[in-house]
Amino acid sequence: MKVLVTGAAGFIGNYVSRALIRRGDDVVGIDNFNEYYPRRCKQFNVDLINILAGLPIETPLDEIQNVFEKMESYYPKPTGKLGSFKFYEMDITDAEKVNEMFRTEGIDAVIHLAAWGGVPMSVQKPVTYANVNVVGTVTLLDACRNFGTKKFVFGGSSSVYGNRDDKKVSETDDVMHAVSPYGATKVSGEVLCHAASVVYGLDVCVDRIFGPIYGPLQRMYGMFMQRAINFAYNGKEISIYGSKGLDTAKDSTYIDDQVDGLLLLLDHKTKFDVFNIGTSDPQPIRLWLDIIGKVLGTPVKYKLVESDKGDVVSSADISKAREMLGYEPKMNMEEGVRRQVEVFQMMPEWYKTMDNV
Ligand SMILES: NC(=O)c1ccc[n+]([C@@H]2O[C@H](COP(=O)([O-])OP(=O)(O)OC[C@H]3O[C@@H](n4cnc5c(N)ncnc54)[C@H](O)[C@@H]3O)[C@@H](O)[C@H]2O)c1
Repeated sequence: MKVLVTGAAGFIGNYVSRALIRRGDDVVGIDNFNEYYPRRCKQFNVDLINILAGLPIETPLDEIQNVFEKMESYYPKPTGKLGSFKFYEMDITDAEKVNEMFRTEGIDAVIHLAAWGGVPMSVQKPVTYANVNVVGTVTLLDACRNFGTKKFVFGGSSSVYGNRDDKKVSETDDVMHAVSPYGATKVSGEVLCHAASVVYGLDVCVDRIFGPIYGPLQRMYGMFMQRAINFAYNGKEISIYGSKGLDTAKDSTYIDDQVDGLLLLLDHKTKFDVFNIGTSDPQPIRLWLDIIGKVLGTPVKYKLVESDKGDVVSSADISKAREMLGYEPKMNMEEGVRRQVEVFQMMPEWYKTMDNV
């Protein structure tokens, strides 16, 4: 199967691309290297895919080779033929280029992950978020219609649920109360997907992703675990702005569990369906800080600051994904953090000392 992965240079996108290639699918990746975090990190991600697919890379080999080998060592060695990879630097809102690429490639299915992510930034740049997350999504849906693509997996977000305190949210809950522009764009994306499934006959699955997704090379900016590791390494103090301070607990999913969910959705036969993909087991920030400090061998220094109004606590009811897809999150939190720290420590100095993460 030829699968288009949008946002392939991003955190989740590069893992999904590598998982598809390992299982023998051909991947077309697109990304515009937006300025949310440095291009160098995204090129590193693309080069992890390139190495796996046997393609040339731009990152110096001595920076990436050991990291690549370590990260691949977490998976069983593929036994079959690997899939191929082709990368386009492209903006998903550029309808002409997107359509041209669909025409050239003949895409069977799309896993749509390209977006502006993160709640606080969306409050600063709502128009940018709406343009990419909404117009970009409809541009891809339209290209699927134009070129007969059959399946679309939408990278949605738990932010669609708004603030539900400690309630476990399920897919039948109302999603009209997003509390950030980011959450609102993800609701819009889902509704556009639903409309496309009706009027274009496209098969769609929505993954309501429960994050922060963590694991090696976690998205660089605005992600709590990565920031804690980076700040501890650089002797800085991290600000905790969750709505319940150290007791703020999010349904953080390990990257491989999230990728499993996305691939199950890709293979799931349906006209339209929505699934929560998380752990259903949110853990408080104090425990994350404790584990990260232990693994690093240095306590994480922190201060509590005023909570961010758009920040939502989240806990997923994942019984639907368990029953209908056989989805089961497997990663133990300590092992997940250990891997994230292990890979962080192998990264070049420019990465470890990056500012404003
Ligand atoms: N990481 C999480 O915790 C989390 C939680 C919930 C939902 N999600 C969703 O998962 C998806 C991937 O998240 P991520 O953590 O990998 O983020 P990321 O920022 O690492 O990856 C997103 C990628 O999309 C690309 N992109 C942005 N605008 C683009 C455009 N106009 N054209 C082409 N490419 C563009 C970016 O350059 C980036 O590489 C996003 O849709 C995000 O909203 C992530």
